[in-house]
Amino acid sequence: MKEVPYYINKPDNILPEGLTDSILRSNDPLEYHQSLKNYTVTPLLELNELAKSFGVKNIFVKDESYRFGLNAFKGLGASFAISRILEKDPDIETFCSATDGNHGRAVAWSAKLFGKKSKIFVPKDTTKARIEAIEKEGAVVEKVDANYDETCEFAKKKSRENGWQLVQDTASQNYEEIPAYIKAGYFTHFKELEDSLHNLPKPKVDLVFLQTGVGSWPAAAAWYYLNRYGIIRPKIVLVEPIEAAGILASFKKGERTKPQGNFKTMMAGLNCGIPSLTAWEILKHSADASIAIEDTFTAKAIRKLYYPTGDDKRVISGESGAGGLAGFIALMTNPQFRNLKEALNINSDSRLLFYSTEGDTDPENFKNIIRLNS
Ligand SMILES: Cc1ncc(COP(=O)(O)O)c(C=O)c1O
Repeated sequence: MKEVPYYINKPDNILPEGLTDSILRSNDPLEYHQSLKNYTVTPLLELNELAKSFGVKNIFVKDESYRFGLNAFKGLGASFAISRILEKDPDIETFCSATDGNHGRAVAWSAKLFGKKSKIFVPKDTTKARIEAIEKEGAVVEKVDANYDETCEFAKKKSRENGWQLVQDTASQNYEEIPAYIKAGYFTHFKELEDSLHNLPKPKVDLVFLQTGVGSWPAAAAWYYLNRYGIIRPKIVLVEPIEAAGILASFKKGERTKPQGNFKTMMAGLNCGIPSLTAWEILKHSADASIAIEDTFTAKAIRKLYYPTGDDKRVISGESGAGGLAGFIALMTNPQFRNLKEALNINSDSRLLFYSTEGDTDPENFKNIIRLNS
């Protein structure tokens, strides 16, 4: 029998203790981000027509394309981590990272904020537009003839050889602290909703769909929700490209493992290898489900947001940014997800939140997607 591309988890909702947990517990990035010149709260939209079309009560979208002029949310993590690193060691001159796009641009932008240099390595399939966007932030960018995991290893080696400070968003053995500061930095956009959807004592959303690469961002979200609400937190569904589904593979195997796919996906920000060590530790205790989807659902999600109906507002959401909504569309329309849909109890009272984590970061591809309206 063909394996289904999802996993229904039974989380125990216990957050693992250790360095990451203590950094997440003791760091609040909101004030730091508010002090930055171009900080604004990103828009939260309510898409009533879209909700109606799927038979659910609410669909909310937080639009991170407005974040710091970077067209993606990743500046939250990189800037906070670099600010903490420089507090301890102000003499660092160059920051280095491996990236499939958004994180590298965010590291370059953050280094520039502090008058520092950056060196960014990208894997072989990275598009010209993404490289140019990183270069515009002042980085020296180098393409490596390798996949994402190999590029991360290369960046680590080059940093060691050249005395650069590595700012990687994925944790591995003996590399936990900086990814933890990056995760803490992501809290800002969850906190921006504390007067609305993330009210106390109960959240005003029942489900969040989180597009997943190495898992650091969804782990930050899961940690935040569990810490704020305990077991009355919203349900968490992780969404990955089917060709780079390391979290789903890890759930199925029962331990952290590499994805089996061919890494051909337009969801560039989610096109990662083995999940982050510490992110996996959090997610296995807190995610309710993990699903893997084809690119066709992402294209549909992008178009749904670009061509709204009725009074719904347009959202420009890129290939990785629309991943959460793409997962929801797959769940609602593809019969292979029927059991999962039932398990998540999605119905006419369901209130859903998506984070559109990037805008049109690859404008050429975005244009090709919206050329078709179906
Ligand atoms: C736009 C976008 N959304 C979501 C993610 C997923 O974040 P993470 O890799 O921490 O799982 C990424 C990662 O680069 C991204 O670029």
